[in-house]
Amino acid sequence: MTVQKNGDRMVRTVQEDITGIRVIKALSKTEHESGKFGGIASDLASSEFRAQRVMSLTNPLTSLIFNLGLVAVIVAGAFLSAEAGDITGFLTYFIIVLNAMLGISRIFVILSRGMASAERIEKVLALDEHEKIEEHPAGDRAFAVEFKDVSFSYGGDKEHLTGISFALKKGASLGIIGPTGCGKSTVVNLLLRLYDVSAGAVYVDGQDVRSLPSEELRKKFGVVFQNGYLMASSIRENIDYGRDLPEEAIKRAARCAQAEEFIKELPEGYGHDLAQKAGDLSGGQKQRLLIARALAASPEIVVLDDSSSALDYATDAALRRALQREYAGTTRIVVAQRVSSVKNCDLILVLENGSVTGAGTHETLMKTCPEYRAIAETQMGEAV
Ligand SMILES: Nc1ncnc2c1ncn2[C@@H]1O[C@H](COP(=O)(O)OP(=O)(O)OP(=O)(O)O)[C@@H](O)[C@H]1O
Ligand SMILES: [Mg+2]
Repeated sequence: MTVQKNGDRMVRTVQEDITGIRVIKALSKTEHESGKFGGIASDLASSEFRAQRVMSLTNPLTSLIFNLGLVAVIVAGAFLSAEAGDITGFLTYFIIVLNAMLGISRIFVILSRGMASAERIEKVLALDEHEKIEEHPAGDRAFAVEFKDVSFSYGGDKEHLTGISFALKKGASLGIIGPTGCGKSTVVNLLLRLYDVSAGAVYVDGQDVRSLPSEELRKKFGVVFQNGYLMASSIRENIDYGRDLPEEAIKRAARCAQAEEFIKELPEGYGHDLAQKAGDLSGGQKQRLLIARALAASPEIVVLDDSSSALDYATDAALRRALQREYAGTTRIVVAQRVSSVKNCDLILVLENGSVTGAGTHETLMKTCPEYRAIAETQMGEAV
């Protein structure tokens, strides 16, 4: 058990160190990390050593018992003056039975190792996959997305969202802005029902998200999460993501996401194989591929969580114009830190500490919401 756990710790550390190698080098933490690795490796070595010591004792012990048994059979046979054939036959049976017993004891060793691994797998399998579909009253079908007095907590005493309400018509755009940690990504999580609300309700197309099968719900969305993930495969496969989309849809999405230009410059274009974690692309290029992936299946609702932050202002503006033009019927939700990214949205929510402190268009908020005005004014110099 301990051996298995220490082995697991070691594999995890090696994995973390390899993925985080740049950070470790940049922070000159190589010595710290190798010290940590050394500690874990010696823990593993000593638990393996202890286990082997017990094993090395049990092996000769079982051989001794085994051979003593053989001697006992022969001696008993001699005393009972049995036939040589009988003794040999008995010995053969004796060896077969003993071998089977040894096999059983080996199974116990494998079983205890397996149990340590199974415990961890069990933890993952036991996670609730939210497939609980419950009956809930429907909302207003006129809205593509509606939050009705939603409160939510990830756990503990703190409430991470408090009394959030807004409604968005089909084809309209919503901007969410606010300081870091105010709950913007949490709104996105609730919309996709990655978590369930503590109070209130979230409606998509007039249906409570808790009354929809998750597959049906998530099919409506094209989402770029804040820390999107690109695979080490070709650009085409990364945009398509196993959905067998037509070539034209992939190209249209890449064009709209402002990714086409840099894809075309690559020698193999859409067939270019990305390095692991897209290490050969710039931050902005990665974001544009992730946006293309979200757009490619022409979803009803596009959600971009802080996914144009690495783009320069001109590219960001071109992206917004293309979205407006090419996906006009699509409902859009844009989470951003920049006023310029949400300025033209039909509705902008200003979040602070899990509550809405302002809601309206850019013009209204500039007049009525001091928090919004403050964000806008600090960014004025940056061509808001
Ligand atoms: N999985 C989680 N478990 C527990 N708390 C969480 C979890 N995710 C977020 N939080 C907490 O919820 C609050 C809101 O987080 P959220 O990710 O929604 O912020 P955000 O507005 O998206 O911030 P940012 O602009 O940095 O992305 C934070 O205080 C954060 O610590
Ligand atoms: Mg966030």
